[in-house]
Amino acid sequence: MTLSRRDLVRIGAGASAAVALGVRPGLARRPTRPFELITRPVPSSGEEIPVVGIGTARRYDVAASGAELDPLRETLATFRKLGGTLIDTAPSYGNAEVVVGDLVSELGFRDDLFIATKVRKEGRDEGNAEIASSFERLQTDRFDLLQVHNLVGIDTQLATLRELKDAGRVRYIGMSTSSGRQYEAFADVMRREDMDFIQVNYSLAARDSADVILPLAADRGMAVLANVPFGRGRLFDAVGERPLPDWAGEFDCESWGQFFLKYIVGHPAVTCVIPGTAKPHYAADNMGAAMGRLPDAAMRRKMEEYFDSLT
Ligand SMILES: NC(=O)c1ccc[n+]([C@@H]2O[C@H](COP(=O)([O-])OP(=O)(O)OC[C@H]3O[C@@H](n4cnc5c(N)ncnc54)[C@H](OP(=O)(O)O)[C@@H]3O)[C@@H](O)[C@H]2O)c1
Repeated sequence: MTLSRRDLVRIGAGASAAVALGVRPGLARRPTRPFELITRPVPSSGEEIPVVGIGTARRYDVAASGAELDPLRETLATFRKLGGTLIDTAPSYGNAEVVVGDLVSELGFRDDLFIATKVRKEGRDEGNAEIASSFERLQTDRFDLLQVHNLVGIDTQLATLRELKDAGRVRYIGMSTSSGRQYEAFADVMRREDMDFIQVNYSLAARDSADVILPLAADRGMAVLANVPFGRGRLFDAVGERPLPDWAGEFDCESWGQFFLKYIVGHPAVTCVIPGTAKPHYAADNMGAAMGRLPDAAMRRKMEEYFDSLT
C-alpha cells in the first residue's frame, strides 16, 4: 500500500491528523512523497504484517454502548484505512474484547484484521473457558494470534494453544510479558518451546529486552510484538514541549510519537509495535511510523543518547 502525505491528511482525522503529522493543511500543494507501508514477515510463515498495530489496554475498557465508543470507532476506522491490521487485546482488559468485537463487526472489516488476544489462567479448564469467552466477546471463530499472558499457567496453556492451532481455531501461538522480572523465565521458555510470536515491552525508556529476549527471538525464528512503546505515555512527558531534533528528518520522522515508534521498529528483530491508540489523530500519527525511512543502528544509538540526556 502506498500513501502520500496528502492521503494521510485526507484519510486521517482531517486537520488534527495533519497537525499530528506535522503537515499544515494550507500546504496541500506542496510536493508529496509517496510512502510504502512498511511490513515485516512472521518468521514461521512468511506472512507480511504492517510494523505498527494497536494496543487496547485501559482505553478500550468502556461501556459497550454510548458516546465513549465514538472516538474508538473512528480510531479503528482510521487505522484500517491507513493499512493497519494488527489489534492486540486480552480478556483481562476489562470490556476491551467486547468493545473491539462490537466495533469491528459494525465496521465490517474482521477479515482484513489480525486479531491477537491472550489467556491468563492457571488450569486447563479455566483456560479453555476463558478462551471460549474470548471467541464470543470478539465475535470471531478464529484468532490470528493467541498468547499466554505473563507466563500464567504457561505449560498447560501452551498445550491448549497447540491443540487449537491444530484444529484451525488459532493461526499463530505465542506468549507475552511486560516485566523485566520475568525475562529470565521467559527466555527459558523461548529456548525450550516452539512458538510463532513473543510479545515483550521495549521502548527508548526500557531497553533491557534487547539484551537477551530480542536476539533470542531472532535466533529462534519468533515474531516479536513490542508493547508499552510509550511507557504508558511517560515518554511524552520526558520530552515535554521540546521540538524534534533536526536530524529526526533523516528518518522521515515528524512527531515525537513517530520518533519513539521508529526507534522500536528500527530494531531488526521487532515485527510489530502495538501502541495503545484510542484517538483517531493518534492512529494517523502512529501509522506514520510505518512509512518512510527507519533509523539504522548508528541513528538508533544517537536516539538513545539524546533521550538519556533528557532524563
Ligand atoms: N503483558 C502484556 O501482555 C502486556 C502488558 C502491557 C501492555 N500490553 C499491550 O501493549 C499495548 C501498549 O501498551 P500501553 O497501552 O499500556 O501503553 P503505551 O502504548 O506505552 O502508551 C499508551 C498511551 O500513549 C498515548 N499515546 C498513544 N499514541 C499517541 C500519540 N501518537 N501521541 C501522543 N500520545 C499518544 C495515549 O495516552 P492518552 O490515551 O492518555 O492520551 C495512550 O494511552 C497495550 O495496549 C496492550 O495491548 C501487553
